[in-house]
Amino acid sequence: MHVLITGAAGFLGQRLTRTLLERGDIAGRAVTRLTLIDQVAPVPPSHDTIRLDCRAMDITRPGALDSLLGERPEVIYHLAAVVSAAAEADLDLGMTVNFDATRALLEGCRTAGLAETRLIMASSVAVYGGELPTTLDDMTALTPQSSYGAQKAMCELLINDYSRRGLVDGCVLRLPTIVVRPGRPNAAASSFASSILREPLNGEAAICPVPTDIDLYVMSPGRVIDALLHAATLPGDALAPYRSVMLPGLTVSVAAMLEVLREVGGEDALARVSHAPDPRIEAIVASWPARFETRRAERLGFTGDRDFHEIVRTFIAEREAS
Ligand SMILES: NC(=O)c1ccc[n+]([C@@H]2O[C@H](COP(=O)([O-])OP(=O)(O)OC[C@H]3O[C@@H](n4cnc5c(N)ncnc54)[C@H](O)[C@@H]3O)[C@@H](O)[C@H]2O)c1
Repeated sequence: MHVLITGAAGFLGQRLTRTLLERGDIAGRAVTRLTLIDQVAPVPPSHDTIRLDCRAMDITRPGALDSLLGERPEVIYHLAAVVSAAAEADLDLGMTVNFDATRALLEGCRTAGLAETRLIMASSVAVYGGELPTTLDDMTALTPQSSYGAQKAMCELLINDYSRRGLVDGCVLRLPTIVVRPGRPNAAASSFASSILREPLNGEAAICPVPTDIDLYVMSPGRVIDALLHAATLPGDALAPYRSVMLPGLTVSVAAMLEVLREVGGEDALARVSHAPDPRIEAIVASWPARFETRRAERLGFTGDRDFHEIVRTFIAEREAS
């Protein structure tokens, strides 16, 4: 099976690549070829049996993906994106990368006749916002309150329509906020959610820019990768007619996250978090809903984390193993 990943040098792209190389298959189907694409050259890994192709490529360049799509990948993970705060700061950049490039990818699939190709796009809770019911589900109307959310919502609609027309076999995963993300902070408005745990557990200071009574909807990196793999195996019929699925995350307040930090890392770790409100971050994060009814995702076989302690302990175990 030929798997193509856009955004392969990013956080999820790297982790997905590592997992695919370790496993060598998705649900028993051998991965024979892996094509990694990013504007930042993906670090070329090596593998005995999987043919690897790493390309530095700006997917907003007209026709950028066309020749690769002509090679008929069977699964495409479309992870390249400009994340939330960056897309809010630069409308043109967000529209070009998040929307125009996704549309071009869909058109490329159509031209190459990739009706059977499973196209998996990472969407976000940011597709919702504003006045919302207390608990949301997959069918709640999309009312984004950020440009990032609007761009993701438009892509969702297009993927649904191209799938309905039989031009591609789409699946959209709405990802909760991913914590604890290793590495350094990024330009996502939710970046603090990892920083307030990761930095103190690494002995460094962190800033919490939002009130602690804000609830977040979160999922660990490991469960997100499991979901990306599972999405490649689901029959189109199981998803149709509505190809977007909200993954089963955990609802947790910032205060509860900090309490777990104290329990796991002690008072010293908690004392490394200072509070400095940032109205720009708060406005974006507060517009994201935090309570979802995810029975559909569970029926489709997606699973979430057990509790927030487990998420933090897994982060510590993975950090120590690396
Ligand atoms: N991490 C989260 O909490 C989260 C939550 C919801 C949704 N998502 C979505 O998941 C996907 C992956 O997220 P991530 O956390 O790995 O993000 P990331 O920023 O780490 O990775 C995105 C990658 O896309 C690449 N990219 C950006 N513009 C490009 C272009 N023009 N051409 C080629 N490559 C380009 C970047 O270089 C980067 O490596 C994104 O679509 C994001 O919107 C992430």
